[in-house]
Amino acid sequence: MIFELTEEQLAVREAARDFAQNVLKPGVIERDSTMTYPTDQVRQMGELGFLGMMVDPKYGGGGMDTISYVLAMEEISKVDNSCSVIVSVNNSLVCWGLETFGTEAQKDKYLTKLATGEWIGAFCLSEPEAGSDATSQRTTAVDMGDHYLLNGTKNWITNGGTSRVHLVIAQTDPEKGHRGINAFIVETDWDGVEIGAKEDKLGIRSSDTHTIMYSDVKVPKENRIGDDGFGFKFAMKTLTGGRIGIAAQALGIAAGAYELSLAYSKEREAFGKPISKHQAIAFKLADMATDIEAARLLVYRSAWMKDQHMDYTGASSMAKVFASETAMKHTVEAVQIHGGYGFVKEYHVERLMRDAKITQIYEGTSEVQRIVISRQIIKKGELYIPVVTPSVVAG
Ligand code: CAA
Repeated sequence: MIFELTEEQLAVREAARDFAQNVLKPGVIERDSTMTYPTDQVRQMGELGFLGMMVDPKYGGGGMDTISYVLAMEEISKVDNSCSVIVSVNNSLVCWGLETFGTEAQKDKYLTKLATGEWIGAFCLSEPEAGSDATSQRTTAVDMGDHYLLNGTKNWITNGGTSRVHLVIAQTDPEKGHRGINAFIVETDWDGVEIGAKEDKLGIRSSDTHTIMYSDVKVPKENRIGDDGFGFKFAMKTLTGGRIGIAAQALGIAAGAYELSLAYSKEREAFGKPISKHQAIAFKLADMATDIEAARLLVYRSAWMKDQHMDYTGASSMAKVFASETAMKHTVEAVQIHGGYGFVKEYHVERLMRDAKITQIYEGTSEVQRIVISRQIIKKGELYIPVVTPSVVAG
């Protein structure tokens, strides 16, 4: 078992850390308070290659592995989770879905722009009445011969107002249940696409979350992704990878709060010594460090399993549920360690605490992850331990 990162992976982590600490950190409090979309920062992330990290270079991507992607997500998420959710959705849900299941023509037309960050994409699955129960799609796409006619409403769409491309999941044949669902590439400047107001959220406040309405939008036949009826599986397979990205975001939130708490507790004195020397604080730090290391192992393992082309369905859900619950629990502790300073914006930990909550909700709630994990372990009939044969490792 090898726990070392490669030179290349270390360089990606360093570049992401440098960008997060030097470019994202100044201004992150202001952007969060005013719900200002990080336009400049997103442009720079595109230039640095963070928006299409795993995409084949022939489509303009970085050709990197999933481990490199989670390392970048972790570092960016220590600082700015509005930016890291943009990175996650564009990489995992949009670029990966298109590269894996799109046609060459779709990749040439869309992926090349999305992988470089010239365009940003959004993944439109959730609806007012279809969140966890994702098969209950009310959005319809009626086959009109040479095109589909799309009607419906999508909720909580990350990148909703800034994206040029939506991957929209819609019902084409309600009689067929999940086999009557399809996924479509929709350009946001087409007639009938209406963007609702930006949501005023608890956390990730500068990210761009909107309701989207589609009214008689004409979607060309060639913009359907995969065979007829593949849309639900497209969504599930794409989300399985997406959950690794959100797990890495949660890991970054927890690690960022921990790093701030460790530094603060060494400086802040009470009763004649640094508070880190008081057992009440030292034990909190010990619990944080232990849970974060455990989360890190789950997150890196799920990324590694994806890179090895293993079945990572259960592993990504385990990583997401554990990392997001670690983020929530320990950002609350980070605020506690900071005392009154933790309750004000200047010290960053209150923002990380607010940001942590969404990682337990989006891309599948913690309850949905437990559905996925329990189905996996029952199906496999044993504890979830991946068996790796040398041929699998060799690729
Ligand atoms: N990979 C491949 N196929 C899968 C799959 C997976 N991970 N999960 C399910 N499927 C397949 C099943 O095999 C089944 O196919 P067959 O009938 O051919 O065997 C089909 O899909 C239906 O599966 P289920 O019967 O398991 O479906 P279900 O109705 O019981 O739902 C669920 C399962 C796991 C609860 C699913 O609905 C789910 O994941 N819900 C949560 C949705 C979600 O994560 N939403 C997030 C919104 S996107 C977002 O947040 C992005 C953002 O902006 C940040």
